[in-house]
Amino acid sequence: MPLYLKERWGAYTDSDPLTYAVWAIYENVKVFYREGRYGDLFSPRKLLDAGFHLWYTEISKAARTLSSIEPLVVARNLADSYGGAGIDPFFQRFEATTAIATLVPQCEGVVLELGPGLGNQIARYDKNKVTRVVGVESNPHFQADIEAQAEKAGLASVYELVTCGAEESDVLERHGIRAGSMDTVLSIQVLCSVPDERAMAREIYRVLRPGGKFIFWEHHVSSDRITRLYQNVTNPIWSRLIGGCCRNKDMHAALAAAGKWENLESIDGDADPAKPWVTLPRVWGVLVKAKERN
Ligand SMILES: C[S@@+](CC[C@H](N)C(=O)[O-])C[C@H]1O[C@@H](n2cnc3c(N)ncnc32)[C@H](O)[C@@H]1O
Repeated sequence: MPLYLKERWGAYTDSDPLTYAVWAIYENVKVFYREGRYGDLFSPRKLLDAGFHLWYTEISKAARTLSSIEPLVVARNLADSYGGAGIDPFFQRFEATTAIATLVPQCEGVVLELGPGLGNQIARYDKNKVTRVVGVESNPHFQADIEAQAEKAGLASVYELVTCGAEESDVLERHGIRAGSMDTVLSIQVLCSVPDERAMAREIYRVLRPGGKFIFWEHHVSSDRITRLYQNVTNPIWSRLIGGCCRNKDMHAALAAAGKWENLESIDGDADPAKPWVTLPRVWGVLVKAKERN
């Protein structure tokens, strides 16, 4: 079997967004110093939250501010590595070429959106189908972005933001998110970041009503041994810098163990044996919670 050394080297080095995360932390160290926020310089949580916000913002619009930010060359590489999706607004345009474009409009009724981040998905909701959307975002830096996107999409009166971890069920309960209460739960690249994806999958299953839908697009552990080794080795630093994201989680196993779904076999993915070097293979689907008791 060929080892694809050249492709692997490219995938594991210059197009890995990890490099760019280091820059985002450094930029925030400078901001905190400039603003005299010396206490915050010693708060890993504040530094990492601010760093992740900057990283995600810049990668998303990558890279209008290129002149002032030299390491954004990494973002350019990233854009190129995703098939030249361009660098304006990169994520939304890139995602429009993926299953996300058809997944999000399937949300209906009362929706729980996990980790909305910059609110990149809000414009994709079908306004005729959603009656209430509760976005649960743990990083407070994203609040203004989310509110702006809800406003822009004409969903301000429907969209409610709760700033807490998606695993904090006692807080969510106060916002009406209880067992069997949700028509849809949406998770676009979020399960990778929650502290325990198996517990989160069980929680998603719990809050869905029977027949309710879990709509997701996540990245996943690689089935290739060398890439999996790379994922495992880089994961501790990746996870610290990129909002707690883990690149080596087995989403399929977590969802299968959560409870009985009507269509577990429908989970789709883009892992390609001909491209074993891909560091963030994706899985996605619309899982329906089984109607009978289990
Ligand atoms: C990769 S971003 C995806 C953002 C958005 N879903 C999108 O598709 O553009 C992951 C988001 O999940 C949030 N997040 C991470 N852990 C979380 C948790 N435990 N509860 C709620 N949100 C979380 C992060 O702060 C971040 O905004």
